[in-house]
Amino acid sequence: MAVKILTEHINVPGINTFDVYRKMGGYTAVEKALKKMTPEEVVEEVKKSGVRGRGGAGFPMGMKWSFLAKPEGVPRYLVCNADESEPGTFKDHFLMREIPHLLIEGMIVSSFALGANKSFIYVRGELMYVIHILEKAIAEAKAAGFLGKNILGSGYDLELVVQPGGGAYICGEETALLESLEGKRGNPRNKPPFPAVKGLYQSPTVVNNVESIANTPWIVNNGGDAYASLGIGRSTGTKLISASGHINKPGVYEIPLGITVEDFIYADEWCGGIRPGHHLKAVIAGGSSVPILPAHLILNLANGDKRLMTYESLSDGGFATGTMLGSGGFIAMDETACVVRNTWTFARFYHHESCGQCSPCREGTGWMDKVLERIEHGKGNMHDIDLLVDVAKKIEGNTICPLGDAAAWPVASAIRHFRDEFEWHVKHPQEATQPGAVYRGA
Ligand code: NAI
Ligand code: SF4
Repeated sequence: MAVKILTEHINVPGINTFDVYRKMGGYTAVEKALKKMTPEEVVEEVKKSGVRGRGGAGFPMGMKWSFLAKPEGVPRYLVCNADESEPGTFKDHFLMREIPHLLIEGMIVSSFALGANKSFIYVRGELMYVIHILEKAIAEAKAAGFLGKNILGSGYDLELVVQPGGGAYICGEETALLESLEGKRGNPRNKPPFPAVKGLYQSPTVVNNVESIANTPWIVNNGGDAYASLGIGRSTGTKLISASGHINKPGVYEIPLGITVEDFIYADEWCGGIRPGHHLKAVIAGGSSVPILPAHLILNLANGDKRLMTYESLSDGGFATGTMLGSGGFIAMDETACVVRNTWTFARFYHHESCGQCSPCREGTGWMDKVLERIEHGKGNMHDIDLLVDVAKKIEGNTICPLGDAAAWPVASAIRHFRDEFEWHVKHPQEATQPGAVYRGA
């Protein structure tokens, strides 16, 4: 049975309450860190663990912590990014709803390590009921002496604030989030300076994802080396994956990093296979911001090679270079899914969510939306397909924040792998615009 770091107790009745969470061993990491360790020792264990950011970018968490500037007399902040909005991604939502004290415990341990006395959890505004769950959990932890002044008599103080977001996808970008937290419009800032140097209120700030922070109690209790022994290569530990689409068992799964994509899709322990009578056409392995992978790049690879669920193994060899495990939003499509329609849906989303600060993103997402709409509705021409690739290339790498890349990659990869499907829409407009029509190959 695979080790569960985050979800071992998830099915215990009442685990969302302080008493049950504590009975199952909760808050022992706070006791250990505050009574027996220095902040530097906690940072060292997180570094040793090799845990990488679970929001999407996969940046090593310990390294990010060690970048935090420490000027005398200036406060430092920890901000938890709980603005999960990536299409297909719902694992942080699940964690906060089911086991909120795990995040609270992680926030205390992490804030202690970073020397922060006031920390924030910025939650997606639509999740009002989750905000209430977190506020209740914080009140319980405070009543038990794990938050507030002089926690457990250690001399360490921590105030934890839950801040609802306004429902804009861009506020999940860390600097837009900080702007929003400061009460301004959520426009991304230019980097550098990184938040580690100038973040919230111009003070050194670490922004970490919910799942990243939720890993820290286990790391403190079991040690960074124990964490690093799980997973494979530079993809250490476990990962929460929210699986959706044409699979038999959609849901949130905690997987050991390094299992094969094939196992993840077909094993009963995970997605349980593609729905009866259908077969896999493509996978989007890490939320809408990553390239689409056709089935032939996942199953029956040459020389018996296997695609692994890791940060390194899911690139499609195109111009995208990001970590393709992304936000952990795994979408499987069978042969009934239309790639053109899906690509247009994503393009519309990014066009709507672009903050409009930089022209390649503001104009480019609008162009891609319009051109894809044209093709989907049987009004496109062959030149439109190349135009889309050209626009995507012009966006990539030329914007302030990663939303531009995120909008460009799915379009470019869909055309790279499914060009015949786009061409079919152009050549057979009447057939392609029938309700439910899908290209099934030449
Ligand atoms: P990034 O690669 O620019 O940065 C990663 C982190 O490392 C940031 O916190 C950054 O401040 C820090 N960092 C990098 N270099 C640094 C340096 N030299 N000094 C100090 N700190 C440094 O990526 P970013 O913008 O944080 O995230 C993009 C990812 O977010 C995408 O891969 C996408 O998949 C994901 N995403 C997830 C969403 C969700 O709902 N979970 C929504 C939207 C995007
Ligand atoms: Fe705004 Fe798009 Fe530029 Fe990001 S890339 S700052 S979302 S316009």
